[in-house]
Amino acid sequence: MKTRLGLILAVAISGVAWAQSSTPDWAYAVPTPENEATAPKDDGTVCTLPGSEGKFTRSQISGAGRKPPADWYPSDHPLMPALIAAGDPARQITACAACHYPNGKGRPQNAGIAGLNAEYLARQMQDMKQGLRASSEPRKKNAQQMVDFAKAMTDAEMAETAAYYAALPPTVPIKVVETETVPKLRSQEGLWLPVEGAPQEPIGDRVIETPADVAREQLRDPHAGFIAYVPVGAVAKGAALSKGCAMCHGANMEGRAAVPGIAGRSPSYLARQLHDFQTGARRGPMAGMMKPAVAKLTASDIVNITAYLASLPVKP
Ligand code: HEC
Ligand code: HEC
Repeated sequence: MKTRLGLILAVAISGVAWAQSSTPDWAYAVPTPENEATAPKDDGTVCTLPGSEGKFTRSQISGAGRKPPADWYPSDHPLMPALIAAGDPARQITACAACHYPNGKGRPQNAGIAGLNAEYLARQMQDMKQGLRASSEPRKKNAQQMVDFAKAMTDAEMAETAAYYAALPPTVPIKVVETETVPKLRSQEGLWLPVEGAPQEPIGDRVIETPADVAREQLRDPHAGFIAYVPVGAVAKGAALSKGCAMCHGANMEGRAAVPGIAGRSPSYLARQLHDFQTGARRGPMAGMMKPAVAKLTASDIVNITAYLASLPVKP
């Protein structure tokens, strides 16, 4: 009897949690095999970017075969620690710069980490290593890769890489645009890209983050920006919903001590994290502080809050 009641309760509770936090699909851009098949391939073409002396093929840009990825703008940043620039093939650690870029700008499908508190960054890697942080979306393969890298890293490497990224300045602001319609999109390599020639469609209850310049983003240009299309009125609604966040995240959401900055960051990334706190996929030693903040958030609240946070300057 007792166990049966327990079971019924567990089902009822998980039902409630689901209603509050159904996966925000827009934040994941889960790749599909058909779309991946049409991703730009390395055909030997040597690519360039404005203001860079670099000349790289697409394989060199991504660091295929666990080679060091392209560093388009070496004068942008201090000397990278070896693990960031080149990874460690022996331990199957991919160069951090391949995903988070040498300047820490990152991409919506991973995380922008420039200028975040070093203690915070190291704690995240430690949480991943200890099995206290993962993605609630099993199809998000790159998040699982990130956990695998953390598991292979030493404490000293976590401290060194965290210190490097923490010392970097903010990069390119995200342009937040309130709109009723958005381009029709397809996911490719974790990004939402417009379907050429397709008519606009209603935005619905979503944030759509897409490269300001698709060709440059496909060359992993660390100076290229993103546009976040958000529903009309989302920024004001998000501001109202975010009043209580400032107590911990700072008056302008710029972060305070080891509480991370959340201003001007990718709305897709932020939404995945709010969802992960809700589901308990993020449950490190300091994640408990986020529990009350996310407990009652609906899917629409997450759209509005992330639209607002993305619109803020990283530093006030
Ligand atoms: C294959 C791509 C990839 C590589 C390479 C990679 N990461 Fe990540 N990283 C991710 C993804 C994806 C996430 C976010 C997962 C999510 O959305 O929950 C992430 C998140 C993080 C976070 C948490 C950020 C935050 O705000 O909480 C830190 C810290 C981090 N990575 C550090 C590193 C370091 C240091 C390296 C190099 C040793 C590295 N990453 C290499 C994909 C990558
Ligand atoms: C009681 C303090 C507190 C409040 C209030 C709070 N947060 Fe947090 N938040 C934290 C802490 C601490 C962390 C880091 C958790 C960890 O290390 O796992 C965090 C992490 C986050 C992250 C993850 C950032 C990243 O880089 O991955 C997001 C997003 C976030 N908070 C958003 C919010 C929003 C939105 C609100 C308001 C609705 C809010 N927080 C209210 C303390 C708080």
